[in-house]
Amino acid sequence: MTQPQPPSTGIAWSRGAFIPAEQASISPFDFGFTRSDVTYDVVHVWDGSFFRLEQHLDRFLASVAALRMVLPVDRDGLREILTGCVSRSGLRDAYVAMVCTRGRPPAGLRDLRRCENQLLAYAVPFVWVSEPAAQVKGVSAIISSIPRIAPESVDPTVKNYHWLDLERSLFEAYDRGADTAILLGPDGNVTEGPGFNVFAVTNGRVATPDRGVLEGITRQTVIDICAERGLPVEVRAISREEFLEADEIFMSTTAGGVMPITRIEGRILGNGAPGAVTMSLREAYWARHRDPRDGTPVTYEESEMPSNGLARQKELIPAG
Ligand SMILES: Cc1ncc(COP(=O)(O)O)c(C=O)c1O
Repeated sequence: MTQPQPPSTGIAWSRGAFIPAEQASISPFDFGFTRSDVTYDVVHVWDGSFFRLEQHLDRFLASVAALRMVLPVDRDGLREILTGCVSRSGLRDAYVAMVCTRGRPPAGLRDLRRCENQLLAYAVPFVWVSEPAAQVKGVSAIISSIPRIAPESVDPTVKNYHWLDLERSLFEAYDRGADTAILLGPDGNVTEGPGFNVFAVTNGRVATPDRGVLEGITRQTVIDICAERGLPVEVRAISREEFLEADEIFMSTTAGGVMPITRIEGRILGNGAPGAVTMSLREAYWARHRDPRDGTPVTYEESEMPSNGLARQKELIPAG
């Protein structure tokens, strides 16, 4: 009789080999660690298919180039590594990261141009910014007193690990009894939150901030869905006041999709339940996972996959 397998904890591609995810490592002398001189991207796999993989590759390769780094593999090689991590992990629903660090210069030198850039990738069980059970109720957020780092200093369109402003805002949210935080930019307008973009819906019009944000792939998916449905959608500056007075607010991220915010700064939106526009966009977002335009199926090495414990959470996600 075959023994039940333990849930998969994931596979990494680290230092040129596929290994268990927990064994992945970078050098403590890598500038990616000591200086946060690193860029990354996260794509997800849902029901055995990557979602919008090519868009994530585009963004990652643009970020690598913007930081004047060079990957040890080309786009096809990178796609193969990511697929290799997922197929070997057996995970049908996965959080798949690709990370490029500056590396380190030759001993005794500090010349950034002489660093050998390092690529790390891994597939681990799907990660939620907000779990499905919380999503159907809606989450609570504050507007943080900590401003988002200026886009002129750290370009937010290059996905990065400069997270201390985001993390400080999260502790502020916990201290104020909220789940998460949204940060204003140095100009006082709304930007984004720890790991997600934001949208406001007012009088049936959908809007998301135009600057000071990562150009999220989920944000773009929402924009595409709105355009296809003839729902007015605007990418523009949103002031704190406008945001706080919106009919509906929601977050968008690879790590959970479209997620309603039902309380902001203590104000209850609508009747305290997720809004109709948000929930229909959430449903459309998950339905997009069945659209062959957006999916890249993974061929797995084994046909029998160990469970990763996601089944109960997935019951709360629209089947599409
Ligand atoms: C700061 C920040 N903004 C927005 C997002 C959402 O981007 P995406 O939809 O591509 O996951 C993320 C995702 O991790 C993020 O870290």
